[in-house]
Amino acid sequence: MSEQAPVTITVRPNGPLRVEGHIRLIDADGAEWDLTGKPAVSLCRCGASEKRPFCDGAHNRIGFQCMTSPGNLTGK
Ligand code: FES
Repeated sequence: MSEQAPVTITVRPNGPLRVEGHIRLIDADGAEWDLTGKPAVSLCRCGASEKRPFCDGAHNRIGFQCMTSPGNLTGK
């Protein structure tokens, strides 16, 4: 088994989840998106993208607001 760099997911303020690294992105039926040549993808977090699961910038148009950080977790 080869070692791969860990996947990094960055929560963008008021925006998408930026996913960097070697990932497989599949739907509920197991169909896979072809991410060949894409070192990173941005996944919609606001629900308004017309290209879900990918971000298309609609979060700006709708004024999506969501600031979060690990310090926001409760009970830890
Ligand atoms: S987070 Fe960008 S369109 Fe939803």
